[in-house]
Amino acid sequence: MLVEKIRIAIVGIGNCASSLIQGIEYYRDKNAQDAIGLMHWEIGGYKPSDMEVVAAFDIDRRKVGLDVAEAIFAPPNCTTVFCSHVPPTGVNVSMGRILDGVAEHMVDVDERYSFQPSARPEPSKAEVVKILQDSRAEILVNYLPVGSQEATEFYAECALDAGVGFVNCIPVFIASNPLWEDKFRLNKVPIIGDDIKSQLGATITHRALANQFQKRGVKIDRTYQINTGGNTDFLNMLDRRRLDSKKESKTEAVQSVVRERLAHENIHVGPSDYVPWQKDNKVCFIRMEGRLFGDVPMNIELRLSVEDSPNSAGVVIDAIRCCKLGLDRGLGGVLDSPSAFFMKHPPKQFVDDEAYEMTERFIANPS
Ligand SMILES: NC(=O)c1ccc[n+]([C@@H]2O[C@H](COP(=O)([O-])OP(=O)(O)OC[C@H]3O[C@@H](n4cnc5c(N)ncnc54)[C@H](O)[C@@H]3O)[C@@H](O)[C@H]2O)c1
Repeated sequence: MLVEKIRIAIVGIGNCASSLIQGIEYYRDKNAQDAIGLMHWEIGGYKPSDMEVVAAFDIDRRKVGLDVAEAIFAPPNCTTVFCSHVPPTGVNVSMGRILDGVAEHMVDVDERYSFQPSARPEPSKAEVVKILQDSRAEILVNYLPVGSQEATEFYAECALDAGVGFVNCIPVFIASNPLWEDKFRLNKVPIIGDDIKSQLGATITHRALANQFQKRGVKIDRTYQINTGGNTDFLNMLDRRRLDSKKESKTEAVQSVVRERLAHENIHVGPSDYVPWQKDNKVCFIRMEGRLFGDVPMNIELRLSVEDSPNSAGVVIDAIRCCKLGLDRGLGGVLDSPSAFFMKHPPKQFVDDEAYEMTERFIANPS
């Protein structure tokens, strides 16, 4: 049966967008048996390649104006190329509204690694809404840099005005902010957010460990999660002022699975440094200290190494399809189950097994 493609718009054609768009092409000639790296082959009849990019926004002079298929390989993107033959989409990257998307310190960094804002005129809100409407986009995926509060709010407003669903992959709180959640509900527009969990990343690993400590009666005394990487996401996060919501999102993702919340000084979770030669490889160090039977101390240390952007795309490919199910079913506001399973900072946290079951029920149950 021929399925209509899900029409997506993307803001921020960085490494994560590159992996997602490569993936849409990569899985085109695969089938349920030979496809590696997916949580779901089909969601509500939609396969991973049943989506197309119909609009895209960025502000980098090396990306704006290019076909999306070329822009995803333009510098400073540095993620693994696992599908080099992405055919032209016929969609050129539109100039976006810069607002707080570009951190001040980025401007002084070698252009191979930093954002280079285009001098093209920035669009008004009405112009962005028109692009979304003219392209008949159904879902806007937000991949702006961490700390883009104003820019995220700007594009969220555009999504509301254009009546397109919103998948908020970044730690600016929209789905988990009751004021914004109201706006999406009243406008009958579905939203999944906030801050995408990776397929097998630091958050899910740390949560799984914390959950086992808890279930097996081991008291957690202290923990840290330190991450290093060499992509623009990590470069951007050197500006600590942009990090408040990222830290909150990542810390809360761990705190929410421990029965007794850890005191502030006993938990440290955060992006910690930028190492340029790591490129899109992220290395995460987790340490947990606890006490088991007889109050006897133990600790565990773990090192995780992952390519950051495909790791998030493996989840976004499902979040987009769940958002589309929300549109098909006429749902507005936060889609709680997929938000809890796919996102680090949903409005309502659930342990991962429960969030998984809830999402499976959401997918299976059209009512
Ligand atoms: N595993 C992951 O990679 C992961 C997990 C969770 C969250 N995220 C978040 O997803 C977001 C995207 O990550 P990434 O690695 O693709 O980042 P990136 O730095 O590679 O891409 C960001 C893109 O946004 C563009 N941009 C900046 N300001 C803009 C504006 N105002 N309008 C339009 N475009 C603008 C930049 O030019 C760049 O192309 C980040 O916030 C990151 O923290 C990523």
